[in-house]
Amino acid sequence: MATGTLIYEGKAKKIFTTGHPDEVLQYFKDDATAFNAQKRGTIVEKGIINNKVSERLFRLLEQSGVPTHFVERKSDREMLTKKVAIVPIEVVVRNVVAGSLAKRLGLKEGEAILPPIVEWYYKNDALGDPLIADDHVRLLNLATPEQLVEIKRLALKVNSVLQPFFAERGMILVDFKLEFGLHSGRLILADEISPDTCRFWDQATKESMDKDRFRKDLGKIEEAYHEVLKRVCG
Ligand code: TMP
Ligand code: ASP
Repeated sequence: MATGTLIYEGKAKKIFTTGHPDEVLQYFKDDATAFNAQKRGTIVEKGIINNKVSERLFRLLEQSGVPTHFVERKSDREMLTKKVAIVPIEVVVRNVVAGSLAKRLGLKEGEAILPPIVEWYYKNDALGDPLIADDHVRLLNLATPEQLVEIKRLALKVNSVLQPFFAERGMILVDFKLEFGLHSGRLILADEISPDTCRFWDQATKESMDKDRFRKDLGKIEEAYHEVLKRVCG
């Protein structure tokens, strides 16, 4: 289906040129990795689910005043997006203690975080995406101080839109990772928002409904991704 030239291949997506210089095509793969690609596998139909879930969430965010790279979903696995220069910062927002935060600071998983916290990780596979502070963003020239303020404002806005959206669907939005890009000098939300990039816990059972099922070998991975699709788009 994809027609243009491959510009970039990441762990979960490929990016192709289109006929339009300002737009690219994101192709969502079923490949799954964890722990900086030390663990690899396939989650059947993950690409289709992440594409559809991302479409729904990008549309919701656009309606709520968050600018995104989303243009149109082209097929099951393809999304047309605005071409951006990715800001090499992985922006993590946390509402509940889990994952690396619990480990790093010795906190108990499941404790609420109020108000939510925003963290920066340097998007650099060779370094294993280390946690960084504002001053490191400046040192590495990853974004200007003004851009960093805007990224934090947008990340918290995304959280304030998504948290109630998932709560209405019986899901706790534990934490998530965002990436931003520059398009015509403007910061917009890019990448994807999916069970690969968020932690969702079922409100009733507290069971993981996201990539943690793959990371931790919890089983029923495909079932969880399909359940997220059903609750988000069904
Ligand atoms: P962490 O607790 O492992 O730091 O993850 C925080 C959130 O970021 C979680 O929702 C999963 C997401 N995430 C990614 O999207 N990509 C990654 O490479 C990592 C490590 C986490
Ligand atoms: N996507 C990341 C990797 O393989 C890790 C993760 O999502 O846990 O490096």
